Amino acid sequence: MTNFSGFSKLSKEQKISLLSNHFISAKSNTEMASLLNGFCHADKKIQELFDKFSENTISNYHFPYGVVPDLWMNGKSYCVPMAIEESSVVAAANKSAKFWRARGGFHSEIISTTKIGQVHLLWHGESSRLFSFFERIKSSLIVEVAPLIKNMELRGGGILGMTLVDKTQEEAGYYQIFVTFDTRDAMGANFINSVLENLARNFKAQLEQAEELSEVERDVDIIMSILSNYTPECLVQTYVECKIEELHDNKLEMDALEFAHKFQMACKIAKLDVYRAVTHNKGIFNGIDAVVLATGNDFRAVEAAGHAYAARDGQYRGLTDVIIDNGIFRFTLTIPLSVGTVGGLTSLHPLAALSLEMLGRPSANELMMITSAIGLAQNFGALRSLVTTGIQKGHMKMHLINILNQLQAGRAESEAACSYFADKVISFSDVRNFLKNDMRRETNVN
Ligand code: MEV
Repeated sequence: MTNFSGFSKLSKEQKISLLSNHFISAKSNTEMASLLNGFCHADKKIQELFDKFSENTISNYHFPYGVVPDLWMNGKSYCVPMAIEESSVVAAANKSAKFWRARGGFHSEIISTTKIGQVHLLWHGESSRLFSFFERIKSSLIVEVAPLIKNMELRGGGILGMTLVDKTQEEAGYYQIFVTFDTRDAMGANFINSVLENLARNFKAQLEQAEELSEVERDVDIIMSILSNYTPECLVQTYVECKIEELHDNKLEMDALEFAHKFQMACKIAKLDVYRAVTHNKGIFNGIDAVVLATGNDFRAVEAAGHAYAARDGQYRGLTDVIIDNGIFRFTLTIPLSVGTVGGLTSLHPLAALSLEMLGRPSANELMMITSAIGLAQNFGALRSLVTTGIQKGHMKMHLINILNQLQAGRAESEAACSYFADKVISFSDVRNFLKNDMRRETNVN
């Protein structure tokens, strides 16, 4: 049995050696080390930076970093970086971006930018007495956190509101101090959490000293203080629209009106059926996550908020809508997107910094709009394929390219395989056999 205690204190070399002894046969120790080292950055300083992002780092895990070079939104062109491993995602976003570029592009607006934090606490007594106490000390709580919010206020942000919420119907003694924030261009997690912890400490201290309360009422149990990643008031709405006949495209293999109605029905199905809704939204997040990741933002937070928002009326539903009215087709995505363009990884990770540079140093609001436009583009591409040719045609083409790369096929072999498999179902073994047998035969014949 390998002893892993004290693992985090070992050097990277020691960690790799311990892991390879434990998980891989002794023979391949050096192979494992060279594989892991091969994915480390050649520039030592950058690698040291990466090592510090997270604990027990033994290498880097690479994702393809691509771009949609011309996303036209609100009358401006953006080169949008995307970090994603799934074939076809960038290609699909790009295709949709081109399609809508010729039809007025994407239109996006910020609906709201409020972030939320909560202090969860237990207190027992007559609730009106806690509310009166809270109202009395509320302004002093704000005064106490002033030094923490000074810089944010200078940037135009800060605390927007603070209320006490009675949750005792759901759990005996359960209350929340519910705080709303504007964090400007920062995602704001650290800022919000620091403010909340300070508020909670002061709330407890003042409650313990409150002369108007009885001894029992002076007792509070602060359970936790933490931002909420559910940000339904940090919302962006993006749409594309055109006349129905402008949807016409030879590749649709149906007329524009039929396409518009099938597309609308596909969206409606995602509103009605949870199995479809999850896949529908997964496609939207293919695009959104890729931009969020490329810009150094927290894709888990964005995903969690998006899915909760999708279920806000009690049923999980698709996040996009289609309206066909007066001959106009409008396709809209409304989604909470809490992202930042300052702080966190955005300037620390060299590629995140480059991404923001490529986007023209956007504000957080602008990044919300760009990201949602990519989500909408992604959903348009997926639904367009689904209601016309089917998704596999495009996917299989990319899948074939991946298999050919894996099999280290040369250029001529790849071209021959692409034309041979153009109308066939693709499997790894079929491609391998093709390269082994058919190609050889073809080369011999020639
Ligand atoms: C695949 O990653 C995403 C899709 O399944 C999304 C969808 O079905 O809408 C194509």
